Amino acid sequence: MSIPFHKKLPQCQGPKLSPFSKTRFDIQFIRLLSDNEREGHSHVFEVIMNGSHYALKVFKFYDVRVATVGMSEEEIRNISIKTIRLQTDPFYNECRAYGRLIEYGVNGKVAVRCHGHMAILAAREEELAQRFEVHTWNRPEDDSALTMSKRQPLRAIVKDLIQNHPPLTEKLLGRMRKDLLKMRKLGVHPQDVRLRNYGGGLLLDFSIAITKPHWVFEWEEPWWIRSMKNDEMQKLQVIMLESGVKTWLRAREKARAIAVVIDLVFYTTRAAACHIWRNTTKQLAYGLLLEGTGAYRAFVTRDTIVPTPAITCALNLLNDMRDMI
Ligand SMILES: Nc1ncnc2c1ncn2[C@@H]1O[C@H](COP(=O)(O)OP(=O)(O)OP(=O)(O)O)[C@@H](O)[C@H]1O
Ligand SMILES: [Mg+2]
Repeated sequence: MSIPFHKKLPQCQGPKLSPFSKTRFDIQFIRLLSDNEREGHSHVFEVIMNGSHYALKVFKFYDVRVATVGMSEEEIRNISIKTIRLQTDPFYNECRAYGRLIEYGVNGKVAVRCHGHMAILAAREEELAQRFEVHTWNRPEDDSALTMSKRQPLRAIVKDLIQNHPPLTEKLLGRMRKDLLKMRKLGVHPQDVRLRNYGGGLLLDFSIAITKPHWVFEWEEPWWIRSMKNDEMQKLQVIMLESGVKTWLRAREKARAIAVVIDLVFYTTRAAACHIWRNTTKQLAYGLLLEGTGAYRAFVTRDTIVPTPAITCALNLLNDMRDMI
């Protein structure tokens, strides 16, 4: 099935990304930016188009069976394979995430700026293999069997080229956190939060992003959604801790971790104590409480402190209860 690259993609409900350009233009490949040794979703190149330098993320072909492997039978029965494809294919994941960021006017502000999608003719594969030793595109076998001119084009997304990588500072880490929270508010969950996916302090990889509307929000359990969201922030905490940058955020995260341990110990001890308390010494506890209150009352009267009406009322009530036990 051929993709309508002249339209906004993907062609389904939810956010969409516009084409990079509606007119013809040349693409000049300059250098490979991604690591050829890595088994990623794409190969990223520095390119020149219309006289400007960009980063061009060219996606490998996607087999939707990769997504269905981890899904339950019920999900596979109820969610159309088209929806699964359009909401799990890394190319569409990026189109949808950027579509949402553009829709809300934060393109280039909370993540590296995106300029749209485009197709790369299959004939360019040979050039990329020769010049950059890039061979893996996972092209389906039936497509590879076709003549070059009939093969499906490669799908790509154009982004700002990031040349500077500022050192991690307290300010930058704080901003990265804010950006993630902002994206979360817009229903974009990038998931793959790690240092190599940042450029110039902005996130640049949305290959596995989940953007609302998405089938996971209808079909996955609430705990799964919660842990998916929390996982992102935890990954940022890892970046923060590994950076060695002394930030109040880092200190707070450390303090939070310690607080969680203390809480755990406290709650476990308290739960055990409550259990014993409730089941074995209930009567005794009541007795002690009432004796204590009696002593307090005696103390109050002995020292001629005039108890307020509320205290008097409460003490009388407790006295009545003592008589009842
Ligand atoms: N806009 C950009 N400017 C400069 N370099 C970039 C840009 N986009 C990507 N890169 C480089 O290419 C690498 C791979 O990009 P990206 O993470 O988007 O691809 P991916 O295929 O999803 O990778 P992976 O699956 O390995 O995370 C990045 O780690 C970065 O080094
Ligand atoms: Mg990446």
